Amino acid sequence: MTSSNPLAEPPPAMTDPALAAVLQDGWGLAPARLQRVASEGDITARVDDGYFLKVSNPAISPELIDLEIKAMAHLARYCDVEIPRTVPASNGDLMRTIKGDDGRCSFARLITRVSGTALEGTPITIDRAEAIGVLAARINRGLAGFFHPAAGRDVDWDPRYASRLYGRDPALDLSALSELAERVADLPERTAALPSAVQHGDLTLTNLLADRGPVVEGAAIAVVDFGDMNHSADVCDLAIALNSVLRNTSEARAEGTWALARAVIDGYQSIRPLSPDEIDVLGELVLARLLVTVVITRQRASVAGVDQIYAGQWEASSRTLLRELAALSQDELASAFHGIAGTRRSPRRRGQRPPGSGELRSRRASALGGGISPLFYRQPLAIDRGAGTWLYDRDGVAYLDAYNNVAVVGHANPAVTAAVTEQLRVLNTHSRYLHPGIVELAERLVATLPPELDSCLFTPSGTEANELAWRFATEYTGGDGAIIAEHAYHGSTRWMTDLSSNEWPEGYVPGAVATIKAPTGADDPVTEAQAAERVVAAAETLHRRGHKPALVLVDPGFTSEGIRDAPAAYLRGIAAGARQVNALFLADEVQSGYGRSGTHFWRHAAADFTPDIVTIGKPMGAGYPIGATITSREIMDRLAARYEYFSTFAGTAVAAAAANAVLDVITERSLVTAAGTIGQQLRDGIRGLADRHSMLGEVRGTGLICGVDLFPAETRAPKPLAVQFLESLKRNRVLAGLTGPQGTVLKIRPPLIWTSEHVTHFLDTLESTVVQAGIEH
Ligand SMILES: Cc1ncc(COP(=O)(O)O)c(C=O)c1O
Repeated sequence: MTSSNPLAEPPPAMTDPALAAVLQDGWGLAPARLQRVASEGDITARVDDGYFLKVSNPAISPELIDLEIKAMAHLARYCDVEIPRTVPASNGDLMRTIKGDDGRCSFARLITRVSGTALEGTPITIDRAEAIGVLAARINRGLAGFFHPAAGRDVDWDPRYASRLYGRDPALDLSALSELAERVADLPERTAALPSAVQHGDLTLTNLLADRGPVVEGAAIAVVDFGDMNHSADVCDLAIALNSVLRNTSEARAEGTWALARAVIDGYQSIRPLSPDEIDVLGELVLARLLVTVVITRQRASVAGVDQIYAGQWEASSRTLLRELAALSQDELASAFHGIAGTRRSPRRRGQRPPGSGELRSRRASALGGGISPLFYRQPLAIDRGAGTWLYDRDGVAYLDAYNNVAVVGHANPAVTAAVTEQLRVLNTHSRYLHPGIVELAERLVATLPPELDSCLFTPSGTEANELAWRFATEYTGGDGAIIAEHAYHGSTRWMTDLSSNEWPEGYVPGAVATIKAPTGADDPVTEAQAAERVVAAAETLHRRGHKPALVLVDPGFTSEGIRDAPAAYLRGIAAGARQVNALFLADEVQSGYGRSGTHFWRHAAADFTPDIVTIGKPMGAGYPIGATITSREIMDRLAARYEYFSTFAGTAVAAAAANAVLDVITERSLVTAAGTIGQQLRDGIRGLADRHSMLGEVRGTGLICGVDLFPAETRAPKPLAVQFLESLKRNRVLAGLTGPQGTVLKIRPPLIWTSEHVTHFLDTLESTVVQAGIEH
């Protein structure tokens, strides 16, 4: 009578000639050499150099062997790990029923031998530990989609049930471990909601085979012995691998426990990130597996026919590690693993409130220089998270985002988040190594522009994109002066602040900068020639001050001028004017470009002309810092004749991943067209409101950007009223901005994923805010 528990059932009884007969009958093999290897509960014999014959413990059912065979085939196909192959018998069967010398029946299989030797007993270096972590994650990933009905079984080795196993055999004297058994008793509960799948269940050094010696990057570790598989939490396989590495039976221990643990977890997370919930239980699972090892070792000691040396080989090392880890409390152990894995929970998630807004505000004021970096709103918002076009404060209050163009494809866009995190896990270096991401991005950007603009360099910001453009212009033209619009903004460095007339303190005019008037609309019907004339006049101003123009630069949407609908003639005219004064023309598309204009990817393209240089920043990486300067090879070569360009954070592999993902989303969701349609709906709606409410004036914009003159009839204090209006919008949970020379233009510049529903929500809120303001005014 055989039992159903392989741990209680003696191994099959078969002589070598009987094994040879099995091979002959089943597979037609007559091996020259048949050599048994140590194995627990079954017979494993090496057949010449190429195979192993496995005769399972009589307690193992055919369903379980089928599970092993199918799991191995699945992993061999879907996982980048070396796995033994099952060799079909002459009749095609993958397993054969055989009778042992004592009459008990078992199943025999032939599997191929994989290369390498078992790592048990070898010193585990940091590199090796990391490779084992990688392997554990690969196995988890590889088995994620695998199902087999036989996997839904209890396996004594499963660390989740250590406590139950401990209590099952009261005859064993294990009282010294009772506290530990109690400590891990809640593991089934704590792992119940964790990601789970069929696990290998025995990823120990005994079952991991590799070439001895230094670990060569990418060198394979093969995995054998699939006899303990069951459905369990993914983190169990990691705990088992970790347990084996840390317990390391090698006499020469190369590294300490925590250095090895870090390496295994780093390796694992390079393939599959761990959640804080998984890390919470990891240390306890390692402890539980150690408890299992000690208990099972004791149990096996009482079973006849078991190889006692083999079965008992881990007891001493397990007890040593057990003492080390169990000296830490549950919290301490979890904290140590969180520290290693980088999954330490934020104080908030542990139930503590973050600092109050008032406290944070005063700390910010003292640590961040006070007035130099002001916040939005009288009562600044503490925004906790964003999703799509909504921003949420710490109390979970949702605000419609009608302001942020950086989140061009929506806050926390999953495609961008995935691209950034995946790339961060692999590599993030600068652009001095060959990397396909950045090359692909440059190609995609130049493909959006006419053929003359064929060269692209990356920067970490819009400011630096403009600074680089300035270097191109001065080198190419020999000039030293710039022409900008009257209320321009082009960046935050010393020189870009000089090129930002909007930022100039009262009475300040940099000598090397002259301004042109932006078109103000229907009352300023400027022709191409008149626009060119404005540039020529500005160039004369520069000449009079002893400067020669190098660059004419404008935001083609004239956003900081109050969002002006510059006619095509005006834009073409100032570009022509730049040529007449031997300066280059830069379209600063940082605010207006990247699909926002609705008809074209770039705002200037609607005017059908080609600038000498185009710059971009803000939306490019959806918040991951990246900007670009795009120009002709001729202009770039002029700078290259005397200088090199390099900026550490410009065009890193992660920045490129973010920017490529943003372009993908813009294309896949047809956001350029959407910006046109939704922007028009928005303006039409606001014009409808403006017809009824005199506090809304002219409505302007191209695509999904909109400027509305607030309090157009007010001459005394329109700015404070506009600020108050913006505050009221915020109270009504819509976030917009103000722009224009007097700061009285309501600026609506939302993520491009806005739909008609968002427009309706915005219009409803705008109207109720207008009505409230009318009552208060
Ligand atoms: C038109 C324009 N150019 C340049 C910049 C500067 O970009 P960054 O803040 O990334 O340096 C801005 C930023 O608001 C901008 O609006």
